[in-house]
Amino acid sequence: MKPLGIYIHIPFCLSKCSYCGFYSRGGAAAAEQESYIQSLINDIKMYSSLYGSRYLVDTIFIGGGTPSILDPGLIGQVLDALRAHFDITEDAEITIESNPKTLTEEKLRAYRRLEINRLSIGLQSFDENCLRRLGRIHTAQDFADNFQMARTCGFDNINVDLMFAIPGHTMEIWEDTLGRAIDLAPEHISFYSLQIEEGTPFYDMFMAGEFDQIPDDVDREMYHIAIRRFKEAGYEHYEISNCAKPGRQCRHNLKYWSMEDYLGIGSGASSYVDGIRFTQPPLSFFHENGLADDTAEFVFTGLRKTSGINLDAFKERYGKAFWNIFADRRSALSQYFESGQLVEEDGILRLTEEGFDISNAIMAVFV
Ligand SMILES: C[S@@+](CC[C@H](N)C(=O)[O-])C[C@H]1O[C@@H](n2cnc3c(N)ncnc32)[C@H](O)[C@@H]1O
Ligand code: SF4
Repeated sequence: MKPLGIYIHIPFCLSKCSYCGFYSRGGAAAAEQESYIQSLINDIKMYSSLYGSRYLVDTIFIGGGTPSILDPGLIGQVLDALRAHFDITEDAEITIESNPKTLTEEKLRAYRRLEINRLSIGLQSFDENCLRRLGRIHTAQDFADNFQMARTCGFDNINVDLMFAIPGHTMEIWEDTLGRAIDLAPEHISFYSLQIEEGTPFYDMFMAGEFDQIPDDVDREMYHIAIRRFKEAGYEHYEISNCAKPGRQCRHNLKYWSMEDYLGIGSGASSYVDGIRFTQPPLSFFHENGLADDTAEFVFTGLRKTSGINLDAFKERYGKAFWNIFADRRSALSQYFESGQLVEEDGILRLTEEGFDISNAIMAVFV
C-alpha cells in the first residue's frame, strides 16, 4: 500500500479577515455547517471506494478556513468516517488549524480524545495595531492564553502562523513578534509575507491608495531576519516559509512539496493521486497532467524546500535526466548559478537563501 495524506477543507470562519483570499466565508449558520459535514462524510465514502484499498493514510490535515469554529462533535464525525473507511497508520500526523478566540479548553480536550496530535494556530502578529489592521478577531493575549491552554491539554506539536510586511509594519514590531513567538517555543513556525489578494478588502484599499505596500527591500530584510532568529533559536529552515524544531517538520505539507500523493476532500480542495491532479467538486474537474505539467510541478514544489530537488529521484520518477528535459533552460538559469542564488552540488539542485528572495523569477524559467 502507498502512503497517502488526506486534507479536509472547512470553508467557514467566524468572520473574514481583510487580506484573506482563501476559500472560506464568515458567519455560516450551524445547520449549514452540519450539512457541509454530512457532504464531507459522503465524499469520504466515495473516495474510499476509489483509493481505500490501495493507500495507507499517514497524515490528515483539517484546514480552512477555521476548522476550530466547528463543534468538536462535527470534527469527530469526520475523523470517525475517515477511520471507518480508510486504513490509518498508528503514528499518523493529524493536524487541525485554528484561530485564537475560537479555542476553548473543552475543544482542545475533545481534539486530544480524537487523537489529533498537531495544532496550528494563526497568530500573525503580537502587535495589537497590526492585528486590528488585518481584521483579526482576537488579541495577542487571546493567542497567548490559547497557546498555554493547548500545552496544558497535552499538545506537544504546535505550529504558529506569522505574517510580515503588514501595512504599517516596522522592523521593531516584527522583531518583537519574532522574539515573543520564539520565547513560547512552538515546534513549528510558518512566516508569510503579506500578499495583496484580488477580491479582498485589502486589495480595494490598496488600489484606492489607502495604504502603501512595504518596500521590497524591507520585506526581504524581514524575511532574512526571521530565518536568522529562528535558526539561532534551534529551528531548521526547511521550506521557503517554514521553520521547525528538528524532527518537527510538517509531514503533511511536505507531501505537497515533494509531490507525494494527497487527497483533498471538501469544496475547492485539490488532490494529487495516482499522478492525477484534480480539484473538488470531484469527477467533473478531473484532468490528466501531461509530462510537461508534471515535471514543472516537480521543480516548483522541490525548489520551495531548502533540501531542493534530488536529480536522481527526478530521473527515477520520469525516466529521463533532469538536464535532458530542461536542457533549453540552462542559458536562462546561468545568471542565477553565477550569482550563487541557484546551486547544483552532489546531485541536488536548490535555491540558496538569496535565491528564495527571487524564487518566482527562477521558477518562471521552468514554466
Ligand atoms: C488558512 S489560514 C488558517 C489559519 C486560521 N484560519 C487563522 O487565520 O488563524 C493559514 C494562514 O495563511 C496565512 N495567510 C492567509 N492569507 C494570507 C495573505 N493574503 N498573505 C500572506 N499570508 C496569508 C495566515 O498566516 C494564516 O494563518
Ligand atoms: S486568515 Fe484564517 S480566519 Fe482569517 S479569513 Fe482567512 S482562513 Fe479565515
